[in-house]
Amino acid sequence: MAKMTVKDLDLKDKTVLMRADFNVPLDASLAITDDTRIRETVPTIKFILEKGAKKVVLMSHLGRPDGKRVDKYSLKPVAARLEQLTGEKVKFYDDCVGDAVKSGVAASSEKIILLENLRYHAEEEGNDPVFAKQLASLGEVFVNDAFGTAHRAHASTAGVNKFLKSGAGLLLEKEIKYLGDAVANPAKPFMVILGGAKVSDKIGVIENLLPKCDAIIIGGGMAYTFLKAEGKPIGNSKLEKDKIDLAKSLLDKAASMKKEIVLPIDHVVVDTVDPKAATQVVGQDIPEGKIAVDIGPRTVELFNRKLATARTVVWNGPLGIFEMDAFSKGTEAVGKFLAGVKAVTIIGGGDTAAAVAKFKLQDKMTHISTGGGASLEFLEGKTLPGIAALSDK
Ligand code: 3PG
Repeated sequence: MAKMTVKDLDLKDKTVLMRADFNVPLDASLAITDDTRIRETVPTIKFILEKGAKKVVLMSHLGRPDGKRVDKYSLKPVAARLEQLTGEKVKFYDDCVGDAVKSGVAASSEKIILLENLRYHAEEEGNDPVFAKQLASLGEVFVNDAFGTAHRAHASTAGVNKFLKSGAGLLLEKEIKYLGDAVANPAKPFMVILGGAKVSDKIGVIENLLPKCDAIIIGGGMAYTFLKAEGKPIGNSKLEKDKIDLAKSLLDKAASMKKEIVLPIDHVVVDTVDPKAATQVVGQDIPEGKIAVDIGPRTVELFNRKLATARTVVWNGPLGIFEMDAFSKGTEAVGKFLAGVKAVTIIGGGDTAAAVAKFKLQDKMTHISTGGGASLEFLEGKTLPGIAALSDK
């Protein structure tokens, strides 16, 4: 059944409780190093206020403080960033529950309020109903815009809904549109690019997307377990020994479904994984002792040829150790090519989003997910508790 969104809720004169995912990276001096998740939430905050809400009470987690107050995980830096991004005063409370917070929120003249880290209370991750009720008592209606945390069944993502009518925020709605609907009903040809270190992280995605897609293009560390399964020499490249049989069965399954799995045909190799290591391009067979750290130029051509005719592309996982410049060429070249393909291009969060940002391709992709674990679980076809808990239309 379709879920309510913020557009379906009556917000006029209401105090709106909103869950966001402000779990942003901070440096040692507690400065925010990537504010994407905050920026992506601003349209929902503005929408709520434009619809006549009295105020919006924002709540989030940051890091994993495990039920204790840990200063470095305070959301205070987020309040300052939100003020810059919204141009509004943001009232910050140093807790998320309790009498002082409750009376303060009720009396506050500020239109935007941010509560302190939910995970300072163990009851948040425990999805404690009493805690959820306390949070719910701070608003009259609930908006969930925290896609990045939608795979967690916590008090603020799946518990408060028992007490308040709820709907998806604009960001969550957009994530569902692209990672959910576009993937369930893709314009064809539908190609999936998978990378990253481990096969084990992507099994669920392969199983779920194989029946829906035309081809799966595989690069990154996970490719070498597949090449090994095909009997190819992989030198000292990343190998998950206990996943070779699984890789073999996934290759067989794809063949029986007449789906293509496209693997690298040449590689950038080194002797040791070090940003300054001398690199060499080798063909299909990786010599003994060598470690593959990126796809080679012929593989880039092969992958791009496959992608040229795609109408929908999902990309999850970098194609080499892109954090090190010398090993980032393959990820960069495929990313740049994809940016010019006339397809709906959907980028998974986490490392893939970081790679796209590194090569300044953000504005050229249709959708870049703000979820790491959440986007992976969504692509695995799992039901995300934060979405399931929203009110039905
Ligand atoms: C994320 O960054 O993936 C989300 O904010 C969830 O964080 P968690 O893995 O600590 O639950």
